[in-house]
Amino acid sequence: MEKIIIAAKTVNNVIGKDNSLPWHLPADLDFFLRTIEGQFLIAGRKFFESVQGREVFHKGVEGIVISRQKDYKSSTHPVAHSIEEAFQMAEKIGVPKVYILGGGEIYQQIINLVDRLIITEIHENFAGDTFFPEIHQSQWQEVSRIDCQKDAVNPYNYSFVVYEPAS
Ligand SMILES: NC(=O)c1ccc[n+]([C@@H]2O[C@H](COP(=O)([O-])OP(=O)(O)OC[C@H]3O[C@@H](n4cnc5c(N)ncnc54)[C@H](OP(=O)(O)O)[C@@H]3O)[C@@H](O)[C@H]2O)c1
Repeated sequence: MEKIIIAAKTVNNVIGKDNSLPWHLPADLDFFLRTIEGQFLIAGRKFFESVQGREVFHKGVEGIVISRQKDYKSSTHPVAHSIEEAFQMAEKIGVPKVYILGGGEIYQQIINLVDRLIITEIHENFAGDTFFPEIHQSQWQEVSRIDCQKDAVNPYNYSFVVYEPAS
């Protein structure tokens, strides 16, 4: 089963603030929604409960939420109590790949277990309270990059970058 991280981060690795995204970048939201459409999703409990998380994990979307709380329940999605258990549950269902949507706590623990990183790099520094782990060149090689310029609706320059393990 292929394991893929998808995330958007700033130059200073910020991914979130106050359990939300500190930027508005419609082109990235479109890219994100297109990429995960019809895919099997895994997310941490805090992102799952956030405004964006609720928009993504609506009824009918397949995926798993991860929580350490033994009695945590979702009316829409199964709950795993560890990352390993989430992967085992997805394997058992038989999905060929999973997209890991974060947030920060999940990315930190999972980055060394995945096959690919799909990263929107926003060419700005933001203040935030949640961070993406450093993408070390010794561990990850860039395999594709699309650079995009700011425009009337997207106020920052940004790049869609894919990383795979360095060979
Ligand atoms: N820019 C992006 O691409 C992006 C993507 C996603 C999220 N975000 C942002 O990231 C922030 C949320 O991230 P976060 O780090 O605060 O929270 P998170 O990673 O979404 O969720 C953390 C929670 O996941 C559960 N958890 C974590 N590790 C676990 C483990 N090993 N076993 C079992 N459960 C585990 C725990 O839930 P319990 O407390 O229930 O035990 C923990 O409190 C928000 O600001 C959000 O907007 C940004």
